[in-house]
Amino acid sequence: MIKLEGVTKIYPRRGQDPVYALNNLSLSVPSGAIHGIVGESGAGKSTLIRCLTALERPTEGKIEIAGKDLTQLSERELRNERRRIGMVFQGANLLDSRTVGQNVAYALKIAGIPAEKRKQRVKELFELIGLSGRETSYPAQLSGGQRQRVGIARALAANPNVLLADEPTSALDTGTTEQILRLLKDVRDRTGVTVVVITHEMSVVRKICDSVTLLDAGRALESKTIEDAVSDPESGLCQKLIPLPEVDLQNLHHETLIDVFFTAHPGEPAGSKVLGLASHLGADIAAGLFETVGKVQLSRLALAIPRETTEHALTALRENGIYAKERLA
Ligand SMILES: Nc1ncnc2c1ncn2[C@@H]1O[C@H](COP(=O)(O)OP(=O)(O)O)[C@@H](O)[C@H]1O
Ligand SMILES: [Mg+2]
Repeated sequence: MIKLEGVTKIYPRRGQDPVYALNNLSLSVPSGAIHGIVGESGAGKSTLIRCLTALERPTEGKIEIAGKDLTQLSERELRNERRRIGMVFQGANLLDSRTVGQNVAYALKIAGIPAEKRKQRVKELFELIGLSGRETSYPAQLSGGQRQRVGIARALAANPNVLLADEPTSALDTGTTEQILRLLKDVRDRTGVTVVVITHEMSVVRKICDSVTLLDAGRALESKTIEDAVSDPESGLCQKLIPLPEVDLQNLHHETLIDVFFTAHPGEPAGSKVLGLASHLGADIAAGLFETVGKVQLSRLALAIPRETTEHALTALRENGIYAKERLA
């Protein structure tokens, strides 16, 4: 479990007001959860990671990881705790002059694993990441996705309680991203490690996160389970995670555009209910998205509808428990 209480990090600036990179930030992530941190550039994401890895001490507040308050530890104790925190970076940051097996073995050495145990552990880790037998390859002989797998193995070397992933898929193409996300989820399922993912890719959050925090100017603007985050179309997080579909307003089949949002739980119809009603109302579907996020099935559609039936359609949709709002050009 990770718990932040009233964490503030102030950077002084010469001749200017100090920057509150983190401002009274509180949040908690249960053990074994995958938690996403999203926010614009400058929101405080990197500062948060540096505080979580204890590379930096907050100006105020408590940071508890697995029951230990990092802010109360001595430098020496911190060095020990850091071993229990695995880091995954945007690029895998491997040593090019060593084989990938040696890269992981080196992390094991740093973590204090005795030499005679390292070989077996490297083997296990390469099995875990699906790269058995590739230990003797050099980083340059592997693809970007494979290198990132090795980066994950290295982060797991010391059996960490917490895995911090800073933009782990930002340098990868879509297919490779999918594989790395599946691996992170698989690793969590098998080891129970708590994962914090910092990302600007909302698809990453939709696919693997159990919960998510929207950081803004060092504060947690919203912090929710993924199901809650995608269930309220008026919330900032939902608008980021499930953006309005883009529509070319010049080429609509009808004059008015209605944005429709509907969520359902597993086993309940989501898409068919919305589509049935849309068709009944004589609406044309200008754009749409159907996705399952966490345990929620959601539909977001842009319906083109004749001007004269707009009011009727809005009422009919809302009476059926469907969120509907006219989009103004
Ligand atoms: N070492 C530092 N000294 C001064 N200001 C900093 C320092 N690190 C970050 N900041 C400021 O703190 C704020 C948050 O930065 P950062 O954590 O890097 O945000 P993000 O990673 O979300 O882009 C920004 O205004 C940034 O300029
Ligand atoms: Mg940053």
